[in-house]
Amino acid sequence: MKIALVTGANKGVGFETARQLAKHGVHVLMGSRSEERGKVAAQELQQQGLPVEFIHLDMETPDTFIAARNYIAEQFGVLDILVNNAGVQIESDNWQTNTVETIPIETLRRTFDINFFGMVELTQLLLPLIRKSTAGRIVNVTSILGSLSYHATPGSNTYNTKTFAYNTSKAAVNSFTIHLAHALQDTPIKVNAAHPGWVKTDMGGKGATLSLEQGAATSVALALLDETGPSGKYIHIDREFPW
Ligand SMILES: NC(=O)c1ccc[n+]([C@@H]2O[C@H](COP(=O)([O-])OP(=O)(O)OC[C@H]3O[C@@H](n4cnc5c(N)ncnc54)[C@H](OP(=O)(O)O)[C@@H]3O)[C@@H](O)[C@H]2O)c1
Repeated sequence: MKIALVTGANKGVGFETARQLAKHGVHVLMGSRSEERGKVAAQELQQQGLPVEFIHLDMETPDTFIAARNYIAEQFGVLDILVNNAGVQIESDNWQTNTVETIPIETLRRTFDINFFGMVELTQLLLPLIRKSTAGRIVNVTSILGSLSYHATPGSNTYNTKTFAYNTSKAAVNSFTIHLAHALQDTPIKVNAAHPGWVKTDMGGKGATLSLEQGAATSVALALLDETGPSGKYIHIDREFPW
């Protein structure tokens, strides 16, 4: 049975990614910063007979990364799939004042801590376990808003959505994806960036166009790629985006 870790799996796209992977017979560790919310989420899927369990992971608290790494090493000795899904858009609490000219540096730093630095540090810690898999897969959940090409192109769908902290943190996630895929090109490990689409979650809001099932589909497909699949790509469903 394959072993997967999904961060930010207590709700939204992460929860649905965990559900779909477990339906494919993968044993899923559901990362959550809140023990209470994480356990409730895992119980919901366990009650459906799915092979999941809660694991404590706060992307702002590296001690939780070490504890998770040690637990996975002891229990399974390997990690086949890592879905780096946890993310925030904290600047959206105040759209009017959080522009590139005015955003408080603490807001920018905290966004990067959760969306980027946490992802890099956790992945570095887990890589030795992923290398033990015969077909390691790393999915970095990004956004179309991380595309520098679209941001620099007047008329693109996202040209006017200049949420500075979120966008730049996701551009950094994209760069991490390119660098890690390059570093691992001679291994069986595949590393890709997934844009879920505009999904009905707490972050996406009620006006979003995609269901949770549709939103998790890209991460799940990249997590389950066979050996002929791509690495170092920026994917939404079956489309490749420009970086
Ligand atoms: N929804 C969209 O339209 C959309 C579009 C493009 C990209 N995305 C990306 O998709 C991913 C999932 O987003 P979503 O829409 O499912 O959002 P969501 O419903 O707000 O869920 C975000 C998840 O990340 C977790 N999280 C936040 N900060 C964390 C931290 N410090 N440590 C650990 N977990 C943390 C949340 O946990 P708590 O419950 O504890 O807050 C929650 O589980 C994100 O990376 C997001 O940027 C979403």
